[in-house]
Parts: sequence; structure tokens; C-alpha cells
Amino acid sequence: MTIKTADIQFNADGTPIATNFDDVYFSSCDGASETEYVFLHNNLLPQRWQQWSKPSFVIAETGFGTGLNLLVTLAAFKQHLAQNPASKISLHFISTEKFPLTHTDLVQALGAFVQFEDDAKALIDQYPMPLDGCHRMSFVNNRVIVDLWLGDIHDSLPQWHTNEDGLVNAWYLDGFAPSKNPQMWSPQLFEQMARLASKDCTFATFTAAGFVKRGLRDAGFVVEKRKGHGRKREMLAGCIASESEIQINRQQARYYQRAAYVNLATVITSNAESHAQTALASKPKVAIIGAGIAGASMAYAMAKKGYDCDIYFNDATPAQGASGNPQAGFYPQLNVDASHASQINAHSFVYAANQYRQLQSQGFQFAHQWCGVLQLGFKPALAERYAKLTESQLWPFELVRYVEPSEAAQLANCDMPYGGLFMPLGGWIDPAQLVDALFAAAAKLSQVRLYSHHALKRIEQKNVSNTAQENTRWQLHFDDSMGTSKKNENTSLALADIVIYATGAQSHGISELANFPLRMVRGQVEAVPAQAALSKLKTVLCHKGYLTPEYNGQHALGSTYVKNDLSTDYRLSEQVKNLATHYQSLSDCHWAQEVVGNAQGRAAVRCSSPDHLPLMGALADIDKQKEELSDLYKALPLGYYPKGSDITNVFMLTGLGSRGLTTAPLMAEVLASQISGQPLPMANDLLNTLNPNRFLIRQLIRREV
Ligand SMILES: Cc1cc2nc3c(=O)[nH]c(=O)nc-3n(C[C@H](O)[C@H](O)[C@H](O)COP(=O)(O)OP(=O)(O)OC[C@H]3O[C@@H](n4cnc5c(N)ncnc54)[C@H](O)[C@@H]3O)c2cc1C
Ligand SMILES: C[S@@+](CC[C@H](N)C(=O)[O-])C[C@H]1O[C@@H](n2cnc3c(N)ncnc32)[C@H](O)[C@@H]1O
Repeated sequence: MTIKTADIQFNADGTPIATNFDDVYFSSCDGASETEYVFLHNNLLPQRWQQWSKPSFVIAETGFGTGLNLLVTLAAFKQHLAQNPASKISLHFISTEKFPLTHTDLVQALGAFVQFEDDAKALIDQYPMPLDGCHRMSFVNNRVIVDLWLGDIHDSLPQWHTNEDGLVNAWYLDGFAPSKNPQMWSPQLFEQMARLASKDCTFATFTAAGFVKRGLRDAGFVVEKRKGHGRKREMLAGCIASESEIQINRQQARYYQRAAYVNLATVITSNAESHAQTALASKPKVAIIGAGIAGASMAYAMAKKGYDCDIYFNDATPAQGASGNPQAGFYPQLNVDASHASQINAHSFVYAANQYRQLQSQGFQFAHQWCGVLQLGFKPALAERYAKLTESQLWPFELVRYVEPSEAAQLANCDMPYGGLFMPLGGWIDPAQLVDALFAAAAKLSQVRLYSHHALKRIEQKNVSNTAQENTRWQLHFDDSMGTSKKNENTSLALADIVIYATGAQSHGISELANFPLRMVRGQVEAVPAQAALSKLKTVLCHKGYLTPEYNGQHALGSTYVKNDLSTDYRLSEQVKNLATHYQSLSDCHWAQEVVGNAQGRAAVRCSSPDHLPLMGALADIDKQKEELSDLYKALPLGYYPKGSDITNVFMLTGLGSRGLTTAPLMAEVLASQISGQPLPMANDLLNTLNPNRFLIRQLIRREV
């Protein structure tokens, strides 16, 4: 949903003031040094980074505002990296904001901080549109990940996933003065801060208000009064109490497991030094099965987190399945309500739009046009629905807006009697080139090896030992009829610590995926030749099907839906159907009636799911979960139910249906974050909606199993 932006004025010093709260965003005299003292110094940063033994350090902030706290933290972290070149830690900065600054106000507010010019520019470039939910940005070559959760903090924090050890290592408790913003400084906020706190979590805040001190104590924090910054006498800081003193309620629906990678290696030697070396040497080996948009997005997301990946696929080259069409429309499926499906689509689209543009700016090229997508209201009822969607202001204007027929005609550059929804960030992409660009970008960050002609048959757990350690790994068995073992002796016996299925429509042939309700739907898209009727078209048109501007002398016009048909032959009968859909939908466009095909096109099979959403996450052990969770229908408190079993270190990303180009990048980023045990850039409710075991859970709740 779209959210209200901040109402701001700038005072004579250029400091931003929030009109509604009548308070400043940061101290007029020296905002940066106040941040450094209150939040960094009192959370013992950067000293804690030096001794930090875990891979990442998580800071969470209440009230992002101008992002000044982030910029000061980035500067300190960069200094830490410069002084400690061997340091391996990455930083996660999670923040919330109810009233985000407009882009223009942000530029003005940060203009005052010339010392942070580069990071301020990176922030401004990635700053999200006012769409509620989580927006992920990255800084310092992916070493710092920033998740900005737009919306009221009371709605956002309960949606953050945490494992049983907690999530946050340091809280920056910011926000306008408690007297000016009492709604935010509530017991619910303090309880959530405690729920999300790790064992060693510290906090700091500029205020010394008594009710804040008591609230934090009641929630489980040990609170001290400390000297305030500058002329402020006092402030509060402290840490979470030890677990023997407090009981924290981290209850969530544990049957929607979010399993991370589990290191199953046991070190044989007792020598401490070689233990450390073994730990360093034992970077998990990742096998991704599939080289379509799902597999390529997964490889890129894993590579950004430092993992090497082996990609196995059964064709001669990547993107030979559904991701091999010459042109695909790039746009989200948005509804008139903020359903989970709409939210997943909206966030996936925004994330993908950024990622694709970033790839291009880094020099990874693929054919595309960001020419926008026009979803036509070609029937009166549809036009009315689209107009309502805009009136409701459900989605930000930057994402989608209603256009009258006259503007639609201008955007499409041809006669257009219909209005509709315009999505300016959309367009078309050559998916196979995009897949290549993603693999190339991944290979720039870590080792990525592509193994063609490797049809996976099954995986098997295997104990492997060398002199230093014993490990349980997955052995991959390939179909020998493809000559795999002759081609490459190493891969015919490939071993992996982590297996990720990104097998698209061929998932139906994989026994581990047999328990998931995947639906295969054949589709044919026409490659209609460039012709006079279409020569002026300059945006993607969507009706019941879609039509793209020209690329390589052809336009894509699609597509058919044939359930449970796995063949990929080109069919004249489907060309007739595709053209008929197009003529009927655009019956008032004379030029559309003149379009002709020439029996050229491509058919492929989509992998879909009963609710048309992807399946993303740990591979649930469905047979075991049926037993373990059999009394879900009793609607007992969440904490009563056990964690559902999954197949250790095996994950899946499939079921991308008709929107793979939109959903793959964010799904891959979420899954890579989950596997590496890092904060997840998506609300718990949406994660549940995507969990591969959701169909079983729904059946168990309804007692249908
Ligand atoms: C006609 C048609 C039109 C479409 N139009 C659009 C559009 O306009 N916009 C859009 O966003 N989406 C569109 N889609 C959907 C989109 O193409 C898919 O969502 C997306 O391509 C799915 O990607 P994937 O990586 O999951 O699967 P695929 O691209 O099918 O890739 C699967 C990969 O898995 C490998 N594999 C499978 N099984 C094995 C095995 N056992 N061993 C080894 N490797 C294996 C294959 O070799 C392949 O590399 C369309 C789809 C079709 C069919
Ligand atoms: C003092 S400013 C924060 C300053 C900020 N850290 C900076 O560096 O600019 C407080 C911020 O908290 C936000 N805020 C206030 N109430 C909130 C709430 N309930 N949920 C989320 N954000 C809130 C305000 O909109 C404002 O941007």
C-alpha cells in the first residue's frame, strides 16, 4: 500500500523539521556527532566489530528519517574495514519509517553532509518509493545491507523474522522526542525490541524520559542513565538482561520453517589451530539445479553473499526452458486490494526493477526496453476497476497510475480508444540474455561453474571424511543416458552441502518435489514479424494477452494456457487462438485487426501453483510434517506446535508461473538470506504465504489430510 510522506520544512540552518511532530530530525548544531556519541559510542561501536566472531552484525533503528544515523554508521564501518583488512564481518542495518521523506526533501536534507557525499548519493539512488513493507538496499559492495521497512513501527516489528537466538545486536532507539510522539514509545515497541534482541544485544537512546526507562526495564532490558550529548544532561543505554532473569516470548508459527544452512561437519582433530583452519576452509558448496531465471537469480544472490555455486542443468545452454522466450513482458500483477499476492508482486517488481537497472549500470548487458507497460481497460467493467484502483491510492503513483485513452495513445504511440493502468518501471526483456547477465555478474563476485547436460535424477545423503573432518553432504546423481559421467568424471559424483532446486516445469520429474502441488501449464507465444500496423508501437500492451514493441524484426504476441500439457511443439491452432484473443480484446483498435502472424513462435511450459505464487524456502519433509502437525486443526496457541521437519540443507525456488521475471530476483534474495542466516527482507505473513509447505498446512488446518 502507498503511505503518506513526511511533511517537512527546513529552518534557517537548513535542518529539517517535521511539521506534524513539531520536532527536528537531528540537532541543528551537530547532528552527525550526536549520532556518533549517542548511538555508536553507547552501543560500543566500532569496538564490538573488532571482536565479533559471527559473520554479520545487525543494527536496528526506530525512525529512519533522513538516514543520517545510517550514514554515520557507514562511515564508521568503512573505517573499521580499512583498519582491519582481514575483517570478514558484514553489517545489516534495519530501520523503520512511518512517514518517509520525499526524494526531493531527502536530497535537500542530506546536502548539508558533504563528508558523507558518496554514501548519501548511494542512498538517494536506491531510496524507495512510498510503498509499505521492506525495501532492501546495499552499500559498500554488498558488505552493508540496509532494510528499510516503510510503515508504522507497530506494524513492522511483529513482521520481522527472528530465529531462536534473536536477530538484533544493537538498537538505535530514535524517533521524535517522546513528548512529541508518545504513540511510538509504547510498551509494545519495547516488547518487540526484546523479542528481536540477541543475547548480547545493547541499546541506546537520546532520551532519558522516565516512562521510556521503565518501559524498557519492564520489557527485559538493563537500563542505565548516562551523560547526554552536548547540552543534553542525560540519555539512556544498556543491554538485554540475561536469559535466566527474563523470559522472552519469541512465539511464531514455527511450522512455517525458515531453515538456514546447518553445518553438519564434525572436526576430527582436537588441535585448536587446525579446527580454526578447517572452519575457514569449509565454506559450504552450493549446487543449484536449473539454469533459467530462477537458477540464475539464485546464483547471483548467493554470490553476493560470498558463496561459490555449481549450476547443473540438463540442456546444452542456460535458459532453454520457460526462460528462453525471445521477449518477455516485465510487470507485476496488482489487484484492487493489498492481498498478500499483490504485495508480493509489488515488492518483487520494485526489487527486480532496481536489480536489472543496477546490472546494466555495472556493465552486464541484456536486450530490453524500459518502455513501460500499459494494462488496457478494454472492457467497461475493467476500465472502471482500473480507475478505482488509482482513486483508492492503494499503490504509489510511481508504481502504477490510471491513464485516460488520450494519454494511453501517447504512451503507446498509436490509436488507442482504451484507458488503463500504466506501469512506468516495466517494459520487456530478453530473458535468455538476462540469465547470461546474471551468471556473469555472479561470476564476478565468486566462483560460479556451469555444468550443461547434467540431468539430476536424485540426491542422496552421504558421509564423507577427510583427515580433518567428517561431513554429511548431498551426493548428486545424474542421468547417465546423457553421457554425464563420460563428459565429466568429477560431476558424475558431485557432492554439495546445499542443494537448491530451481527446476521450473521439469520439477515434476524430481522425486523430492513430488509432494508439492506444482501445476504445469504449456504456453505458446507468437513471434509476429515487424509490420506496418505495429511499426509505431512503443510500449508493452497487456490485455488478455500481451504485445511488445519490435525487437530483432519481431514482436512477441502471447500467450496460450494449456494445463497439464508438457509438449513444446509449435502449434498453428494456438497461433489462431493468440491472434483471436488479440483481435477480440482490442476490437476497437483498427490497427490491431490488421496484425498477421507467420507461424513462427515458441512454446514452453510454466511451472505454477494452486495459488499462483512461487514456492520458496526449505524443502519440507511433507510425509513427516503430516504426522508432526496432525493436530493443527485444533487451533492451539502457536507455541504448542513443533517445528515442521525439513530436508536438511535442501531448498527450492520454483512455481514462478507467468511472472518469473518479476518474482525471481526478490525470491532468490530472500532465500539466499535465509540460507545464510541473515535478516529476511520480507514480512513474516508474506514469507508464510510463499513457504513450500503452505498447501499442507492449509489442509491440516481444515482437517483435509
Ligand atoms: C509462453 C510463455 C510466456 C511467458 N511470458 C512471460 C512474460 O511475459 N513475463 C514473465 O515474467 N514471465 C513469463 N513467462 C513465465 C516465465 O517464463 C517463467 O516464470 C520463468 O521462465 C520460469 O523460470 P524457471 O527458472 O523457474 O524455469 P525454466 O526457465 O524452465 O528453467 C528450468 C531449468 O531447470 C533445468 N532443469 C530442470 N530439471 C532438471 C534436472 N532434473 N536436472 C538438471 N536441470 C534441470 C532446466 O534445464 C532449466 O535450465 C512465460 C512463460 C511462458 C511459457
Ligand atoms: C528524529 S527522526 C529520526 C532521525 C533519523 N534517525 C535521522 O537520521 O534522520 C524520527 C523519525 O521517526 C519516524 N517515526 C515516528 N513515529 C514513527 C512510527 N510510529 N513508526 C515508524 N517511524 C516513526 C518519523 O517519521 C521520523 O522520520
